[in-house]
Order: sequence, then structure tokens, then C-alpha cells
Amino acid sequence: MNITYVPFHKKRNDTGNLVFLEENKDIPFPIRRIYYIYGVAGNSIRGCHAHKRLQQVLISIHGSCKILLDDGKEREIVELNSQEKGLLVKNTVWREMYDFSSDAVLLVLASDYYDEADYIRSYDEFLNYIK
Ligand code: TYD
Repeated sequence: MNITYVPFHKKRNDTGNLVFLEENKDIPFPIRRIYYIYGVAGNSIRGCHAHKRLQQVLISIHGSCKILLDDGKEREIVELNSQEKGLLVKNTVWREMYDFSSDAVLLVLASDYYDEADYIRSYDEFLNYIK
């Protein structure tokens, strides 16, 4: 399946790095919500859902984790470990996050407010939904 990374702008000087991103320019949607996940035990699996409409960009701002993406036809696993790019996860893509390093901080930019009705939390329901 098509894996899309969003590259960010980095400003570097003698004192360190600065990365910035702007909605509707770097991020291909209006950013209505930001959340971050951290302190995840290394053997935990998170996510295990798809969204009907929500789009997200996932950014590993510290440490690393693996992301499994599944569009109902193909599966891909990517390791997220860069502060300089984000992983675009469109709607109707099943995702699982695992192998979090103990220092991992996963930042998520989301195209809409939290809405439990937008979640598809069963894989069978996901396959039915995309048919
Ligand atoms: P969930 O999306 O299931 O987390 P993950 O995909 O990382 O496993 O969310 C975990 C809990 O947090 C769930 O009870 C819903 C709640 N939650 C909110 O209230 N607001 C939010 O913006 C998010 C992302 C989750």
C-alpha cells in the first residue's frame, strides 16, 4: 500500500534544531486536535482501529515505535524514529502501534475533534465498512 510521509522544514544552527509545520501547507488538513502518547510499555499494542473520516499525521518526536497500516488489501509496517517527518494515516486505514521504546513520545495531529462514533474498533467491521 501507499505509505506517505510528510517532510518538515528544519532550521539548524550551532545551538540546535527547530522543526516547524503549518496546517494546510505541510499538513494536508486543518489541525483540530493534537495529542501525544508516551510511557507505553514495550510489549503493548495500541491503536487497533480505523477511522471513518479522521485523518492523522503521526510524528515520533522522541524515541521510536512501529506502525502497522492495513488498507484492507495490503499491510505495511514502518518504523517511526524521525523528528523531521510525519506519517500520514488517512481515513479507513487500520493501524496498530507497537514496539515503543521506553523513551518514545508519539505526537498525533488530527483533522477533527475526538468522536468515538468515528472509530471502527473491530477488524471484521473495518473490512465490512470498506467494502
Ligand atoms: P484510543 O484512541 O483508543 O488510543 P490508542 O489508539 O492510542 O490505543 O484512546 C484511548 C482512550 O482515550 C479512549 O478511551 C478514548 C480516549 N481519547 C479521548 O478522550 N480523546 C482523544 O483525543 C483520544 C485520541 C482518545
